[in-house]
Order: sequence, then structure tokens, then C-alpha cells
Amino acid sequence: MPPLPVDLLRWYDRHRRTLPWRALPGRTADPYHVWLSEIMLQQTTVAAVIPYFHRFLDRFPTVADLARARQDDVMAAWAGLGYYARARNLHACAQAVDRAGGFPRDMAGLLALPGVGPYTAAAIAAIAFGHPVVPVDGNVERVTTRLFALTDPLPAARKAVALRAATLGEGAEARARPSDFAQALFDLGAGICTPKSPACALCPWLGACTGARLGIAATLPAKAPKGAKPVRHGAHFHLVDAAGNVLLRRRPDKGLLGGMLELPGTIWRAQAWTMADAVSHAPLASAPWTSMGRVTHVFTHFTLHVDVYAARIDRFPNVIAMGGGLVYGERELDGLALPSLMRKCLDIARRAGPAET
Ligand code: ADE
Repeated sequence: MPPLPVDLLRWYDRHRRTLPWRALPGRTADPYHVWLSEIMLQQTTVAAVIPYFHRFLDRFPTVADLARARQDDVMAAWAGLGYYARARNLHACAQAVDRAGGFPRDMAGLLALPGVGPYTAAAIAAIAFGHPVVPVDGNVERVTTRLFALTDPLPAARKAVALRAATLGEGAEARARPSDFAQALFDLGAGICTPKSPACALCPWLGACTGARLGIAATLPAKAPKGAKPVRHGAHFHLVDAAGNVLLRRRPDKGLLGGMLELPGTIWRAQAWTMADAVSHAPLASAPWTSMGRVTHVFTHFTLHVDVYAARIDRFPNVIAMGGGLVYGERELDGLALPSLMRKCLDIARRAGPAET
């Protein structure tokens, strides 16, 4: 027997999660809320997103408010969620939507928005506008590979899995309730068809699940073995003057952590840095640098080891301020939009305090 949408929808009507971006039963969700939550939920858990979602809506109650906000304020509200290019796209997207007078209501229009790919477009189209499409995220991939016992490893099999996932939404009941059907799939993946130890006994689709019948559900989806992440090395410098001011700089707009503040540092490269080599790239090579320890940060495509050096000097020479450096008072630091990596660097730089001159 194929998996029947009606069985999933009946389960959802009893067990649906209450989430801040979700409309109450029978109501239509606000596309701004749906779009914002979907961008935030990429790569992050529901639990981590909820406080950010509330904070964003407090600060930017409508998409027009977000469009007209200063980029720095948007970055500050986003800081800690990671993937900063996404925050910049979020702002650009809000501006495009504001200019157009509202969200486009079809897939083609949604796909043309900055930062909106096929998954996000389908999620917004289904949840906010009731289009009969199935958004395929990790939850839906897991449910689909198990239901149909698809054993070819991801990511190579991703296309084939998406085609099978689309068939789940073909029944009349799913086409009548596309928004609930998409969210029911998310909830099934999050609560029942979980990555480890799925709760098959509670699943509304147990009778239709080939993976469960074969006893292989928990092993799916199969994943191609990952190559080890490459490692990169860098050094960042915490330079403080007698008044407690700290030197920061802004990263270039393009690239990783684009546009974010950072402690001045070296490039991140494959080869480790000796202290002498690193310090020759410090904002003031002649300062009395002390090694404060190492921070490790895992990015999507590599692992970064950062050696943190600190020094205290009487006052910053003008030449530093002129080289693009930004000076912040010690007490301003806590309120700044700093990427998590730089928070970690600052924490260890300030933990013991640099050696006195
Ligand atoms: N994961 C991705 N989108 C989601 C949503 N709208 N609700 C719950 N989990 C999700």
C-alpha cells in the first residue's frame, strides 16, 4: 500500500507542533514569517531559531521594516546564527520584496529573490500560498528514502529522492492542504522519523514503509563517506591601548564572514603559522605580543585553527587607524555584531589579559 496523505494529515491534525511562525489550524501563515523562518532554519535547529525569530519580529515587525533597517542592525540581530552571507541576502531580499509591494506568489517569482533556492521557494509556495509542491529538506529526504527503501547514497541520489518525494504530495488530500502536508512532513521527520532510533511504532505511515518492513529504516538515508575536512590556520591579534580600547577591522563584503567585524589577523592558509611569522602580519609588529592560546572553529568546508595573540600599548599610532582599523571601547564590545569565531577569539584574549608593557 502506498503512503496515503490522509493518514499523515490525520496524524498532523492531532500532533502538529506549535511554532511561532506557524498559523493556527485553518489560518494562512504570513509569508514574511514563513520566509524568515525558512532562511533561519537552513542548517540550524528549530530550538536555536525560535529566540532569533522572536527578536527579529520585535525589531522588524514587517518586511518593510526589515527592508528599511540599517545593514548593521540586521547583522547584529543575526549574529550567532552563522552564515552571514545569508543575513546580507535576507536584507537584499526584504528590499526586493518591499519594492515589489509584497512577496511573489508563484515558484518562478520566489526563485528570483536573493537567497531563495528551490527548497525555500517550495516551502514558501506551499506553506504561505497553498501551492501543491513538496519542499524537500533533510527531514523529507529521510522520510522518503525510508518509505521507499532508497539505498543509493546521498548526495549523488538527491535528485532521484526529490522526484520520489514529489509523488508523496500527489493525492487529492495532499493537494487540498499543501501547507499542512509540507509541515506534516517536517514534523514527521523531526518527531517520529528521526535520524537515529526512529519511533516507527508511532508512525502513521508504518504500514506503507518499505524501509521499516525490511528493518533498514534507521540506516537510511545512506551517505557517501565524507572526505576529512581540510584544515586551515590563521592568527588574530588583540591590541589594546591604556584606555582599554580595542582595535578591530571590517572584513571585505565578499567571502566568508563578509562584512563582519573581526580582530585584525593573517590570511587563513593550509600551512601553520609560527609566532614570528604571524606577528610580522600583526597591526603593530613591534608590540609586545603574548600568545593567549588557540581557538578552533568548524566551518562548512574546513576547520580553522586560530592562534590568538594579545598586546597592550599606550596608545594606537595614527597609522593604524588610517589603515582601516576601527577602535572600540572595551565596554562597547559586548553589544557588537561579531561572528562566533571572533567572540571565541576575544574571550580567550581577554580571559587572562595580555602581559603588561
Ligand atoms: N524545518 C524547515 N522548515 C520548517 C518548518 N516550517 N517548520 C518546522 N520545521 C521546519
